[in-house]
Amino acid sequence: MRYGFDGARKDIWKSRELEKALCDRLQCGFAQLTSSGTSALTTALAALGIGAGDEVIMPSFTFVASFEAVLSIGAIPVIVDIDDSLTLDPESVKKAITPATRCIMPVHMCGSMADLDPILSICREHNLLLLEDACQSIGASYKGKFLGTIGDAGTLSFDFVKTVTCAEGGAVLTNSKTTYTHCDGYTDHGHDHLGNDRGAELHPFVGYNYRISELHAAVGLAQFRKLDTFLSIQKKNHHFLKTELANIPGLKFRTIPDPSGDSHTFLSWFLPSRELTEALVEELRSQQIFAGNFYWFEHNWHYIRKWEHLKKEKTLSRLSAGQSAALKKLDSQDFSKSDSVMSCCISTAIGLSWTDEQLHEKSSRLVSAIKKVLAQHASRAAALELTT
Ligand SMILES: Cc1ncc(COP(=O)(O)O)c(C=O)c1O
Repeated sequence: MRYGFDGARKDIWKSRELEKALCDRLQCGFAQLTSSGTSALTTALAALGIGAGDEVIMPSFTFVASFEAVLSIGAIPVIVDIDDSLTLDPESVKKAITPATRCIMPVHMCGSMADLDPILSICREHNLLLLEDACQSIGASYKGKFLGTIGDAGTLSFDFVKTVTCAEGGAVLTNSKTTYTHCDGYTDHGHDHLGNDRGAELHPFVGYNYRISELHAAVGLAQFRKLDTFLSIQKKNHHFLKTELANIPGLKFRTIPDPSGDSHTFLSWFLPSRELTEALVEELRSQQIFAGNFYWFEHNWHYIRKWEHLKKEKTLSRLSAGQSAALKKLDSQDFSKSDSVMSCCISTAIGLSWTDEQLHEKSSRLVSAIKKVLAQHASRAAALELTT
């Protein structure tokens, strides 16, 4: 238990230690651990005062947790297009602003960052809050500041597939004392955490139980201490793979707004068309080397195209009239701009435990498969030209 029991715990405070380590390493004022990245998002939204009827703008490429958190506090997810940074397209954000918009939620997908300057200026112009979902991008930065510490609040996830994991856990980062105090109470039933008699604590507001446990925090602390090692291995492997793929004509890479801040957890790249990308996925599958590569366009978790449960409002309990109307609109919304990006994109996860030999083998098999598919396509196109 992370709070109270002062005598029994013999002055061992793992959650507090991890929160301090996060603040020190990521240079932010306050960190509040939570039970998951999803509950960190819910907590951050509530702590910022976002609630019933408020609109939160988010990208079409993210994890389902983004809209879950927004729906759970009674707010309305407004989903807009991404660009070739695989994150929010600022022009699409501008078009989505209405009098009900309260917050913009960029999601720093796959270890790299959204271009925050244009988004920050939209926030300033329209007096909106900025909540950064950095759940996939711990240790990445934008123009010298760590992701998650730039907006009014930011979130991290320590789930089982993240760079720093404690099996299940998350954190809210903020530089606002008030937001932090709200997070601290909200994740623990609204208790005010004053004094050392837990049963005598008061409730300045209603909260829930989104606490992390001391056991999870202890594992998280040990893992977080290895962050720099993880980042440097990722950088080395990413650099090698990128250099090999860069030799393939026609292949392009994701736009990274600040390349020096990439955490290198994924290398995301584009083929010239959806047809070629689908052919390559088929080829990689048939050679049994697709594992570790992600074609998000087909993925059920991360891209709007496959979120039937959201678009068809399949919820266990009734949504508010405003939420329901927004989801109906979403079902027929045009995401062709996002589709044109995502249908040509493959992200390769960068392994931490790859030996140099494995890295070289993976990259040479990937390069040959891509070249094979491109060559087949080119000869088919040439044959077609001859017959017409
Ligand atoms: C972008 C993003 N946001 C939020 C989450 C939720 O994190 P958790 O799995 O810790 O609840 C995830 C998890 O994959 C994520 O990728």
